[in-house]
Amino acid sequence: MSYICSEETEELIQAVKEFCDHEVREQSKEYDRSGEWPKEIYDKAMEMQLHMLEIPEEYGGLGLDKVSVAAILEEMAKADAGFALTFSVSSIGLKSVLMAGNEAQKKKYCDNIIGGHFSAFALTEPQAGSDAAAGKTTARKDGDFYVLNGRKTFITNGGVAGIYVVTAMTDKTKGLKGMSAFIVEAGTPGLSTGKHEDKMGIRGSNTCDVVFDECRIPAENLLGNEGDGFKIAMQTLDISRTFIGGMAVGIAQRAMEEAIAYAKTRIQFGQPIIKNQAIAFKLADMAIQIETARQIVANACTRMDMGLPYGKESAIAKCYGGDVAVKVTSEAVQIFGGYGYSREYPVEKLMRDAKIYQIFEGTNEIQRVVIANHLMKEY
Ligand code: CAA
Repeated sequence: MSYICSEETEELIQAVKEFCDHEVREQSKEYDRSGEWPKEIYDKAMEMQLHMLEIPEEYGGLGLDKVSVAAILEEMAKADAGFALTFSVSSIGLKSVLMAGNEAQKKKYCDNIIGGHFSAFALTEPQAGSDAAAGKTTARKDGDFYVLNGRKTFITNGGVAGIYVVTAMTDKTKGLKGMSAFIVEAGTPGLSTGKHEDKMGIRGSNTCDVVFDECRIPAENLLGNEGDGFKIAMQTLDISRTFIGGMAVGIAQRAMEEAIAYAKTRIQFGQPIIKNQAIAFKLADMAIQIETARQIVANACTRMDMGLPYGKESAIAKCYGGDVAVKVTSEAVQIFGGYGYSREYPVEKLMRDAKIYQIFEGTNEIQRVVIANHLMKEY
């Protein structure tokens, strides 16, 4: 089963699938091994306009509805989760701009992304992960400029982005109400890339520290008002977590498809192992979990498209999707047996890729905090 989309979107999904089958799926094995960032693949994907999916038509993008975006990200994640993540996270930085920016900022930075750049969302710091309000990066007003100092960590696209949406404290005495959000352009003096993470999975995505050392940016790059930063970050994550769930569904779907193909051809005791109920039931359980996760993602997307509240549903989509990806990929390795543990076969990569989906964009424990907070208000 899949998402219910228009005929036009179905055609686009098919085109993305063909692109991923030819240009990403096999190639991803090599960059998984080397940890290199495959620029040439991203360049080709930009020719397919995969960086423009969520940009509204009025700013020159494809302006797709959220369900369609989730369906396309699923196809991309089936080929390679790091590849899908690079584009999805690029949309996160832009989401903050589209949500909180003024007209000039929206136009300028949509043009920037359409022109072939990635964005990054720089919230996390070494001491401020789950406790996002504990950020120490500062922004000091100096005439018509702000001067940023601090270090962001685990930043997806940190070393390859054209624009960064960065949270920094403009008034430490006010706690999280003293946090503001800024747009920083790559190449600004004082902005540099720090440690590059050598990750367990999603190795085709770039993850680095981003360092600000007396980094001077125009005051007009403030998003919203001073003090809006924490709220902008939380509202951005409310949207993007749904798509993390959508990509997790893609990883799980691929693992199930690989496991079915293997179980049909692996002969033990004179018959394909899929004839054993122990294996067949594992596959059935995978299908139940994957379809449930997909429909939870679809529900969160539909609520966004309809202008209904979606914070709780987005957290559920991220949390459930991440858990399903980890369970399903682990079971796929089990079905492959010893071969599943070998790098020669595809499922060990899927298992490594899946794990981060329980961690980033707010750990699944934090999603439960978010969900519980909604429940306390609702009932
Ligand atoms: N929308 C709007 N406002 C919100 C909000 C939301 N979703 N969530 C909180 N707020 C507001 C609250 O209303 C409150 O405002 P008032 O004081 O005016 O009432 C204020 O923010 C503080 O809220 P909390 O007391 O709930 O804040 P908290 O400090 O307890 O933290 C948290 C809440 C949910 C744990 C939050 O810190 C959080 O989400 N942490 C996880 C951070 C995270 O997801 N990091 C991921 C980094 S990005 C990433 O991974 C991208 C990548 O590169 C892959």
